[in-house]
Amino acid sequence: MNMKVISILIITTAVAIQFIPYGKDHTNPPTMSEPQWDSPHTKQLFDNACANCHSHETKYPWYSDIAPVSWLLARDIEEGREHFNVSLWGIQKKNKGKDAAKEVREGDMPPWFYLPTHPEARLSAAEKQDLIIGLEKTFGEEKKEEEK
Ligand code: HEC
Repeated sequence: MNMKVISILIITTAVAIQFIPYGKDHTNPPTMSEPQWDSPHTKQLFDNACANCHSHETKYPWYSDIAPVSWLLARDIEEGREHFNVSLWGIQKKNKGKDAAKEVREGDMPPWFYLPTHPEARLSAAEKQDLIIGLEKTFGEEKKEEEK
């Protein structure tokens, strides 16, 4: 195959995948029930760093319309809400609030790949500390092994 044919194939594929419906629906489900945040500051930090994937208040960026990015985003949001969703607090059965502080402390959340495109989620050391304490106060904390 020559370069021209390859280019045409790549472009055709890039256009064709835009017609796949998965990841296109950006309507947020309604917020049914929220946790009792220990302070507005905790909620603010959560909104900046976590809410896009763990609530029904997702803000979709322009590139969320473009496949295949749209597919990755849709999957993260689906999975994120499935594990921990502050818009179905007390309603959704699996809702791992007690793990939230630990995820932040260990640097697992927010996910590293989220940060380059979301400067508001890059928490300073002080903000990170505030969020950890706020999450513990709001959701409680899973007991550490030695304390059980
Ligand atoms: C880009 C989307 C995204 C953002 C932003 C994000 N998360 Fe997550 N989160 C996920 C996904 C996807 C999962 C499920 C898969 C996994 O555990 O990695 C998850 C899982 C979790 C879990 C459950 C872990 C478990 O044991 O099952 C907690 C708790 C959590 N996140 C807390 C947070 C907190 C707190 C923040 C903000 C500091 C945050 N997340 C930011 C996508 C996100």
